[in-house]
Amino acid sequence: MLSAALCGVVTVVVSFGGVLAQQLPVSIPVSAPSSAVTLNPALYSFSIEQDRWTDWAGTTSPNSFFFNTLDNLKQRTGQAPWIRIGADSEDRTNFNSKVQFSESVFPAFSPTTPYPEASNNVVGDGYYQVISHLPAGTHVIWGVNFGTNNITAAFLAAKSIQKAFQSSAVKSAGITLDFIEIGNEADIYLFNGDRNASTWTIAAYTQQWTTFAKNISAALGMGPNSHLKFLGGAFGGSGHSANSFSPQGMFATGILNSPQGKLITSISQHHYSGTFCQGSGGLLQDLMTKSTIRGNLSDFSPDIAATRAQGLDYVFAETNSYSCHGAPGVSNTAGAALWSLDYVLFASQIGISQVYFHQGVGYKYNMIQPATLTRSILDGSTLATPLAPHLQPAYYSGLIANEAIGTSGTTRAVELNINDSRVAGYAFFEGNKLKRAILINSLSFLTTTSGPRPTKNIVLNFSGTGTTPKTMTIKRLAINHADDDHGLTWGGQSFETKDARPTGKLSVQTVAVNSGFTLSATEAVLLSFS
Ligand SMILES: *[C@@H]1O[C@H](CO)[C@@H](O)[C@H](O)[C@H]1NC(C)=O
Ligand SMILES: *[C@@H]1O[C@H](CO)[C@@H](O)[C@H](O)[C@H]1NC(C)=O
Ligand SMILES: *[C@@H]1O[C@H](CO)[C@@H](O)[C@H](O)[C@H]1NC(C)=O
Ligand SMILES: *[C@@H]1O[C@H](CO)[C@@H](O)[C@H](O)[C@H]1NC(C)=O
Ligand SMILES: *[C@@H]1O[C@H](CO)[C@@H](O)[C@H](O)[C@H]1NC(C)=O
Ligand SMILES: *[C@@H]1O[C@H](CO)[C@@H](O)[C@H](O)[C@H]1NC(C)=O
Repeated sequence: MLSAALCGVVTVVVSFGGVLAQQLPVSIPVSAPSSAVTLNPALYSFSIEQDRWTDWAGTTSPNSFFFNTLDNLKQRTGQAPWIRIGADSEDRTNFNSKVQFSESVFPAFSPTTPYPEASNNVVGDGYYQVISHLPAGTHVIWGVNFGTNNITAAFLAAKSIQKAFQSSAVKSAGITLDFIEIGNEADIYLFNGDRNASTWTIAAYTQQWTTFAKNISAALGMGPNSHLKFLGGAFGGSGHSANSFSPQGMFATGILNSPQGKLITSISQHHYSGTFCQGSGGLLQDLMTKSTIRGNLSDFSPDIAATRAQGLDYVFAETNSYSCHGAPGVSNTAGAALWSLDYVLFASQIGISQVYFHQGVGYKYNMIQPATLTRSILDGSTLATPLAPHLQPAYYSGLIANEAIGTSGTTRAVELNINDSRVAGYAFFEGNKLKRAILINSLSFLTTTSGPRPTKNIVLNFSGTGTTPKTMTIKRLAINHADDDHGLTWGGQSFETKDARPTGKLSVQTVAVNSGFTLSATEAVLLSFS
């Protein structure tokens, strides 16, 4: 049917059943280039808002829906997603041994913020103990309160965290505490009232952080040989310079010089692509666009270089699409699945080891809604029928990324150099050998788009030395429209079920590698080579 021959690197437009399909050559190395980056099997991880943590984990029994969502991801890499429990409400948490799990006070909700963070969150031992409900092998980061500048609050929380992780329930569940984070986005204390704006500098931060770290490291028995370390930074933005809230500023003010500072082994940055409280199709396309994804992440390249130069790891331990808990009709849609897939994979290429997608009960940008909702996440209106725990479209990106990473533990990846502003791609290697590739067409095809759905005819061109694969399977993320908020399938299977386990028959195509294939606007595919 496709008669046009591939002429060198020239893009050819052919007529295919009346629809214009553009021929796009994609060159894939058959053996790993030296630039290939080793992927952390928990590249795709989650940050959970601290106030409603027990809704996620479950109190007297595990929340099996949440467990299954994590377990699906674990099955694909052999490693459960890492979990950070923190964010805004971390700086509003205090400890009271008389509280069993947690007692929170929430401000009034609004159409823009249907599920606000707690203004006050008082927790007891049970709150930390329910970490035992997560899949075996889960690694945890817990944030303690620095915002209210009450060292007793942080100390008591740290002691309760220690008690939980030393309990037989948590130990036998194989769950480990890897990092303590002191304060959430201390750079914003400047304008949220937690510190005096005229004196809150990066130097003041380093001094106060060190005071807290002295106390907490003593309380938790942390030292050069302990597994438990500090996650540094966790700033909301970055000034990228020595006198700003940034990794560069932390290092310039000598944070790493104290014995406590030497317990920082990883730097965390938070990032959202923007703040929008109202969505639109244009905004959804902006989010998905290849160049804006690269722009948002590459902004941090100087910080990553400065961090790596200190021999430290660098992660995004809180991120998602748009702040305001997501833009309605954008963050909660299928387009966000393609955004998060390209975002997490591109992040890996520039030295970000892990990306923790932030989640809160009822937030628009969630991958997972772990609890029954009675209000609309879009405008706070009362729902006619409560919504049971469910997955949102962006969850599918975790399945795809993790299938591409696989279970080798040492998979490496490179971004493919594709001459197309809408098509991004990555190749995955085990040992030196090409195993898989992901291609993403991020042109948004909306319910309001008129005309036929644009497609690209992908023609693979293998390069480098090594055996060229003969056949491949094509597994598709099927999306009707970029602005759909449900109804996706991955290899023919839906995960939008009561228990988050897949339903339907797995369906992939097996074809010769030289046969080419179509990639529609708003579609992603995983190619597995043999
Ligand atoms: C195939 O890849 C080789 C090596 O990367 C390149 O020189 C050549 O132009 C490519 N051909 C096409 C059709 O893209
Ligand atoms: C840490 O702070 C707590 C509460 O204020 C205090 O009881 C404890 O002695 C402090 N520990 C250290 C090592 O300063
Ligand atoms: C600091 O936290 C402790 C422990 O919960 C609490 O007793 C105390 O009242 C707090 N201090 C202030 C000033 O809020
Ligand atoms: C902030 O600090 C400045 C300078 O020390 C002082 O004049 C001002 O009163 C402080 N503001 C508050 C709200 O404490
Ligand atoms: C980040 O992404 C948003 C769209 O989501 C875009 O508007 C913005 O320009 C991007 N920022 C950079 C620095 O590329
Ligand atoms: C990239 O694609 C454009 C058309 O979209 C074409 O004009 C150009 O020659 C291509 N560049 C390369 C290096 O293939």
